[in-house]
Amino acid sequence: MRRRLIVGNWKMHKTASEAAAFVHRLAELAPAVGATGSTERVEVVLAPPFTALHAAAQAAAPSFPFTLAAQNLFWEEHGAFTGEVSAPMLKDLGCQAVILGHSERRQLFGDRDEGINKKIRAALRHGLRPILCVGESLADREAGLTESVVTGQLAKCLDSLSADDLLKLTIAYEPVWAIGTGRAATVAQAAAVHETLRTVLATGWKREAGQQVRILYGGSVTPENAGAFLASPQIDGALIGGACLDPHSFATILALAQALPA
Ligand code: PGA
Repeated sequence: MRRRLIVGNWKMHKTASEAAAFVHRLAELAPAVGATGSTERVEVVLAPPFTALHAAAQAAAPSFPFTLAAQNLFWEEHGAFTGEVSAPMLKDLGCQAVILGHSERRQLFGDRDEGINKKIRAALRHGLRPILCVGESLADREAGLTESVVTGQLAKCLDSLSADDLLKLTIAYEPVWAIGTGRAATVAQAAAVHETLRTVLATGWKREAGQQVRILYGGSVTPENAGAFLASPQIDGALIGGACLDPHSFATILALAQALPA
């Protein structure tokens, strides 16, 4: 059984002091809504902006452990790359994971599959677990291209990775049209794409590796719809944007995940 994974992608929200206050509040709320001991059945990942990573790590309480993730990195280790942050820098701050290839990075900042592949390999070299985002646009979906777009992204982003590398990876299927729109995919739509992705992983790498990789759904996940996504056997967790910023709604989603049968 793959352990469920809930990722809160804060995007460009929260200062360092707001991050510390949020983590304290979440640690208070999560036990009250049933997430105590959640690390056994549910892994919680928090992905603050770079500037709040340290504050979030410092605010962690033993009663509410979480995995610290960054939202991006640059593939070189150091050098003349103004404005960029490298994998060893993130590792040194206490990060264990990193979101890569998010559609906002692809759409607004020009991230391409080839560069995302370099970022994934840099993350793996430095012991950071990549959370790779893939997803089709509305035009792709309407043209019947969903499968070919997401499997194409997967193949290019994972090019030359070994089956062992794959074990350290998480995939997030995030249809672009569902992100921040309030229009989530249906569970059936998400589950169908997850099955396709898992088949590609299992055939392109190794059967067991393909079976062990967790595939998350992301795009307008809320406390209201999270239970249905998480109950699907094809969906191993959720990548949450808007609904992770409020400690009550994020804690509610964690409690839903925790309450589901293993
Ligand atoms: P959303 O964002 O939950 O606000 O739709 C998800 C994401 O971008 O990861």
